[in-house]
Amino acid sequence: MSLNQLNFQGLRNLVPLEMRPSPGINIISGPNGSGKTSLLEGIHVLGMGRSFRTRQLKNAIQADMPHMTLYGRLAGEPEVSIGVRRLRAQRELELRLRGDKEVRLAELVEAMPLQLINPDAFRLLEGSPAGRREFFDWGVFHVKHDFLDAWKRTRRAVKHRNALLRRGRMDPQEMTAWEQELALWGGIVDKLRLEWFTEFLPVFEETLEVLLPLPGLKLGYARGWDRQRDLSEVLEGSRLTDQQMGFTQQGPQRADLRIRLNKQPAVEVLSRGQQKLVVSALKLAQGRFLERTAQRHCIYLIDDLPAELDAQHQQRFCQLLEEMQCQAFITSVEPTALQRTWQPATAVSMFHVKHDDQGFGQLMQSG
Ligand SMILES: Nc1ncnc2c1ncn2[C@@H]1O[C@H](COP(=O)(O)OP(=O)(O)OP(=O)(O)O)[C@@H](O)[C@H]1O
Ligand SMILES: [Mg+2]
Repeated sequence: MSLNQLNFQGLRNLVPLEMRPSPGINIISGPNGSGKTSLLEGIHVLGMGRSFRTRQLKNAIQADMPHMTLYGRLAGEPEVSIGVRRLRAQRELELRLRGDKEVRLAELVEAMPLQLINPDAFRLLEGSPAGRREFFDWGVFHVKHDFLDAWKRTRRAVKHRNALLRRGRMDPQEMTAWEQELALWGGIVDKLRLEWFTEFLPVFEETLEVLLPLPGLKLGYARGWDRQRDLSEVLEGSRLTDQQMGFTQQGPQRADLRIRLNKQPAVEVLSRGQQKLVVSALKLAQGRFLERTAQRHCIYLIDDLPAELDAQHQQRFCQLLEEMQCQAFITSVEPTALQRTWQPATAVSMFHVKHDDQGFGQLMQSG
């Protein structure tokens, strides 16, 4: 899976650009504020329908422009075209896949698996469980085809149960019906997540071993409710406290990844650089796992790789990436920072973003 063409218009400070990336490593350099992260953001919006920088996609539309239009072509027989447009005046995204307008976001996500590693990556350890759920659900979604439907039904059941909890007078029959629905689909979600986790774990351990050997580091999956009890029993038993809280306190919507070092939360003992490496290992392992189980390559967006990593760890990171033969877009202020790292056989293209006096950024191929 690799992009062989990108055309972006109306994205942040970037002048309309056409990029022909290499199927291997693409290094994008340029001064601060030139538009490097914006370029990665454009690829992210194209493949995920949302930005990693803002919840308000409107903010990514270039000032004074009525819309942002992003287009990409994925290599293959036949090639796959992907398009996303966001009008300033309209909230919904317009999506296109293979020229088709009637396309759901999940189809876009499926067509173009993406992984992002950026300076905020350590937040995966430190931040809320929602980020970790998003991380593992990405993996489950790409390898287990029943997952999306089960997950949507679970989410719907949680929503209905929460609405009933907040209603003054609870109808026990209606409550039981939604709890049964939640227990059924939530049970399937949990089963698929656990299967994924069990297979993913050795791939992560192997990746971490190369990147940063940390023998005491343990990754665990917590399903969101008591391991010894059925979800339906848990839900029924917690109606009163859930009602007081106003939401469903246990269930697959509370699942998490536990990352511990010698039994302590990893985030409290690891340095920032180490945290970034653990998160990098998690994200590289996702790509390796996807390749092994689904024979698909994901595209890596790596923003500001040199930040917080020493030369040796940068080298190991790049080696792993090279071995995976994934397409990667890597930004760096200095083009020289990543030059010596690559094997002669790896396709490497260099790009530079020129920053002009008015603040616009122009992408140019430089090698
Ligand atoms: N909606 C917008 N319209 C026009 N310009 C914008 C918009 N949003 C942000 N910008 C500008 O776009 C520029 C690009 O920012 P970006 O974060 O992509 O730069 P960068 O090359 O990644 O910089 P750094 O090296 O500091 O990370 C910034 O100067 C910012 O002020
Ligand atoms: Mg940046």
